[in-house]
Amino acid sequence: MAQKTILRALAGETLPTPPIWMMRQAGRYLPEYRATRAQAGDFLSLCYNPELAAEVTLQPIRRYGFDAAILFADILLLPQALGADLWFVTGEGPRLSTITDAGGMATLKPASEVHEVLSPIYDTLKILKGALPEETTLIGFAGAPWTVATYMVAGRGTPDQGPAHKLKNEDPAVFDALIERLIEGTIEYLSAQVEAGAEVVKLFDSWAGSLQGADFDRYALEPMRRIVTALRAKYPELPVILFPRQAGPRYEGFAKATGASCVALDNSVDAQWAASHVQVDGCVQGNLAPGHMVTGGDELVSEVKRIAGAFSQGPHIFNLGHGITPDADPENVALMIETLRSL
Ligand code: CP3
Repeated sequence: MAQKTILRALAGETLPTPPIWMMRQAGRYLPEYRATRAQAGDFLSLCYNPELAAEVTLQPIRRYGFDAAILFADILLLPQALGADLWFVTGEGPRLSTITDAGGMATLKPASEVHEVLSPIYDTLKILKGALPEETTLIGFAGAPWTVATYMVAGRGTPDQGPAHKLKNEDPAVFDALIERLIEGTIEYLSAQVEAGAEVVKLFDSWAGSLQGADFDRYALEPMRRIVTALRAKYPELPVILFPRQAGPRYEGFAKATGASCVALDNSVDAQWAASHVQVDGCVQGNLAPGHMVTGGDELVSEVKRIAGAFSQGPHIFNLGHGITPDADPENVALMIETLRSL
């Protein structure tokens, strides 16, 4: 069997048609997802139900034939496995118990103890390994330490990550201990995902863009570099995708500095610039604005062509610059794929 297209792109091959998958491809824009989620009850029950989580992971593969499936789970399951309380408020988003001082840190479990809570996630991967078409790559993931820490410190999503910035500035010892625990926990979690069948892993640093200068190196780049290094010590061939969202000029050199096989580009980055400054170091992924999945039409078609064209001279995985939104039209996803595959 020819090697899977996503793995070929991640290994640095330039393919005539880039392989494609989509961030949040299993989600509320799909009626079949909404039906399965209703069956599970709430979002966390769905994440921890291996049969149903595997089912929603497979739904976009059946409907669209994406080249990769991403494990259905959430970046906030790791803090929960470390001992934080986690719940989701409908229409608002996640809520967690907060970590703001040494006392809070002391309530967290050691990294080696995350597996008891997370074992259903590994079961989901085992089911998927047996259920996916042979050409489809299975991607595991975790949040990057900085982004996960922003939720753990604030107890919720924040527009400017203010509480995490405040803690890192006012009590760096506590904040560094939290980042350290998350680095170790993430290495544990992703290693177990690989053992359960993930062929690629991705780290989501959705809030990397709020870190400036030396802080970017210390809290975004360095934790991700350490995770990549630790995983490669165990799995030398493991492809790793890193997503330092809104890193802007810091995308340049990021793959070399961290050891990433691929960097995921958000949609604020200019594709031509990224082709000459980021793709020179290896595979890139992403860049299409998720809004086109809502609006569709000629603009979607021309944007797919523009982005595929800009990255056509090097390894590229087609994807959005961030997750697809619940108001997206499933027909526009089909149009994106059709356009790409007919180029
Ligand atoms: O991409 C995929 O299809 C895989 C599954 C996945 C989910 N979340 C499912 C999900 C992945 C990779 C994530 C990552 C994630 N989760 C991130 C990083 C990526 C990004 O979007 O920036 C973050 C910051 C989270 C935390 C999180 N989870 C938030 C803030 C929310 C609420 C916001 C929202 O969209 O409702 C979630 C919930 C969530 N995670 C949903 C899904 C499908 C919606 C839950 C539902 O069914 O109601």
